[in-house]
Amino acid sequence: MGNTRIVRIVHLSDIHLWRFPRNPLALLGKRLVGATELLLGRARRFELDRLPAVVERVRALQADHVVITGDLTTLATPEEFHLARRVLGGILGDPARTTVLPGNHDRYTRMATRLRLFERTFSAFAPAVEYPWVRALGSDTYLMGLDPTRPGLTAQGVLPAAQLARARVLAAAIPPSARLIVACHYPVLAPEEHARELASKALRRAGGVIEWLRGLGRHLYLCGHVHTTWAFRPRSLEDQLSLNPGAAVMKSRTGRNPPGFFEITLQGPDVVIARHAWTGHDWKQWIYREERGFFAGAAAGKD
Ligand SMILES: [Fe+2]
Ligand SMILES: [Fe+2]
Repeated sequence: MGNTRIVRIVHLSDIHLWRFPRNPLALLGKRLVGATELLLGRARRFELDRLPAVVERVRALQADHVVITGDLTTLATPEEFHLARRVLGGILGDPARTTVLPGNHDRYTRMATRLRLFERTFSAFAPAVEYPWVRALGSDTYLMGLDPTRPGLTAQGVLPAAQLARARVLAAAIPPSARLIVACHYPVLAPEEHARELASKALRRAGGVIEWLRGLGRHLYLCGHVHTTWAFRPRSLEDQLSLNPGAAVMKSRTGRNPPGFFEITLQGPDVVIARHAWTGHDWKQWIYREERGFFAGAAAGKD
């Protein structure tokens, strides 16, 4: 197997920058009440003043690649996108080493979607504007991006049939010996204790997506959306290692879900997930999950 080079990836998600809009009525219309409640909740729980320290820690790691799996904003207003670009500037340096995917909150209003605010702010940090796409992270590791987000009053997503069809074609072109990573804001499956939370804001008609993923063989699945941390192999999709780093700066009510991010190390067939978490006083780092030999059977079939 040729994939002996070490690849280190930082995976962040659900940053949820927020700001009260200057012109809320025009932007939010009927959604104003819900949006105000949402912002008040975010203001209580998302510690934006922690972000510079997160950016600094990510920078210091000098990873080969940084992936942000969506929900950079909260109401997808121009002010929030501007703030996100500025605050995250320290890790949005080299587009070849950074990938940013949209979350449902980055499409919160129809106007944001129509004006393509996400694309206008972050399109440099993806290999294409249209989804899905594939980008190589070195010669033996490939990252595929999916986008099931859509504007609307629900947090549920749908992967359009055309996107799934195209994903099948792109996956078939990836060398069978390569390590495959799929990145998508929406998880397809969650650990049992989070299944109910995911159900209320799930990917709809996920059956076809799961069936396709099952045929991909071994892959990492980088997601977010449910604001908690996990690294698990779904029983019904055991060739997937699903990784959710949780919300980067969300206060933990119980202390059991401290905010932070993942550092993923790929070496040969091995996958090691390190957790970097802010305890409220200092950073803690530990091995969160190890999957020795995970990619050993990478040739299981990508067609
Ligand atoms: Fe989120
Ligand atoms: Fe989300």
